[in-house]
Amino acid sequence: MLNAIRHSDNLSGYANIRLHMNRRTFLASVSAVSLLPVRGFAAQNALHLKAQQVTRQILPQGEGATAMLGFNGSMPGPELRLRRDARIAIDVHNALDEGTAVHWHGIRLENMMDGVPMLTQELIEPGDTMTYSFVPPDAGTYWYHSHYISYEQVARGMMGPLIVEDDVPPDVDHDITVLLSDWQLDETGQLLDAFADMHSVAHGGYMGNFARAFLSQERVSTGDRIRLRLINAATNRIFPVAVSGVSGAVVALDGMALSAPRALGDLELAPAQRADLIVDVKGPVGFDMVTRQGAYRLAELIVDGSNTTRHATSIKSLAPPDLPTPDKPAQHLTLTMMGGAMGGRHQGDNIWSFNNTSDLQADPFGSFRRGETARITLVNDTAFPHGIHLHGHHFYETDKDGTLGDLRDTTLVHAGESRDIICVFDNPGRWLLHCHMLSHAVGGMRTWVNVA
Ligand code: C2O
Ligand code: CU
Repeated sequence: MLNAIRHSDNLSGYANIRLHMNRRTFLASVSAVSLLPVRGFAAQNALHLKAQQVTRQILPQGEGATAMLGFNGSMPGPELRLRRDARIAIDVHNALDEGTAVHWHGIRLENMMDGVPMLTQELIEPGDTMTYSFVPPDAGTYWYHSHYISYEQVARGMMGPLIVEDDVPPDVDHDITVLLSDWQLDETGQLLDAFADMHSVAHGGYMGNFARAFLSQERVSTGDRIRLRLINAATNRIFPVAVSGVSGAVVALDGMALSAPRALGDLELAPAQRADLIVDVKGPVGFDMVTRQGAYRLAELIVDGSNTTRHATSIKSLAPPDLPTPDKPAQHLTLTMMGGAMGGRHQGDNIWSFNNTSDLQADPFGSFRRGETARITLVNDTAFPHGIHLHGHHFYETDKDGTLGDLRDTTLVHAGESRDIICVFDNPGRWLLHCHMLSHAVGGMRTWVNVA
């Protein structure tokens, strides 16, 4: 059901939204069916992306459509499917009336193709086209999004799935992308223009009063084995997700295959994180955000008939990614998240900082020799969770005794927690390291590293 999110803590101070929520909550009870007509992603293998204004029906059919930004006439943008180890070129044409740049989140690509204005490229000015060319080395689930005033351009819809296909795809009946996001909408369905509102920047960030998931496909059959590629494309919201009507396993996180499938429980996806599942369909499939007030339906897959030819076998792991093996760390650095509301004292000159320094400085946070292994202790000394993203690399999360855990490009560190990550810095260039709560990034929580 498309009802309003009742996270009162995220919405404090927005009286108009509260009113609005009550109406929506009521509406939702009579318009559950309105979730059904959600169309999938534009069916194309476009290697041309046109950034432009689009109109999208986010509210139930019959309610106001939302003026947004998107690609190729759609929001989310088209699902790009790339072949692993093959060079591709993607032309990005800017038909907006402001600059932009596109980041290929999670792809270990050449630095100059990373899409970060001021660090790796000039802005793509209105009317201009830039060709991004790279070789994706790892099969998996990625996404692309604007990296210019991203707290606003992504919130307006500049995002899309980026899939790097497996050399040998797993044996599934359907491969379905599930892109999650949220929006702050008014009564008429228009986005509220509060993208960099100070109150939300200093707290959990700009969050929507509506959330939903866009599916690349609407129907499955009972007995199907399906792959689900969940992508959290929200600017700030952590999605706790429960998938109902299925049984199966998590097979990859942030694009990278797990060495063994992991039993499927509730998932927690920080902004930018992905999870790939392989599951067997038992009945109608629901995707719910788990909230203290209960389940909030993000999307559902309709079940049509049953698959009688599939014989369920055990779920196998995907092919392992080919990443360098970490050595004994040559450096141990500490990155302390500081600032924000509720006690976050620090000496940075913006709302948030890393190690008392806000925003990008002339000097990098870390300098690494190409191929060097480093340990970085991430310390969250704030009252909010942060999803820390390193560009151009994946790193290992580690557990308390230092054992290597999952490979990720974005790691969620809850308030008061700390976590060590181990990274082989093998990709030369200047790489951003920032909080992927995009309000926190614009509020100062970003730095960069140099690999030479
Ligand atoms: Cu998803 Cu700096 O990026
Ligand atoms: Cu943050």
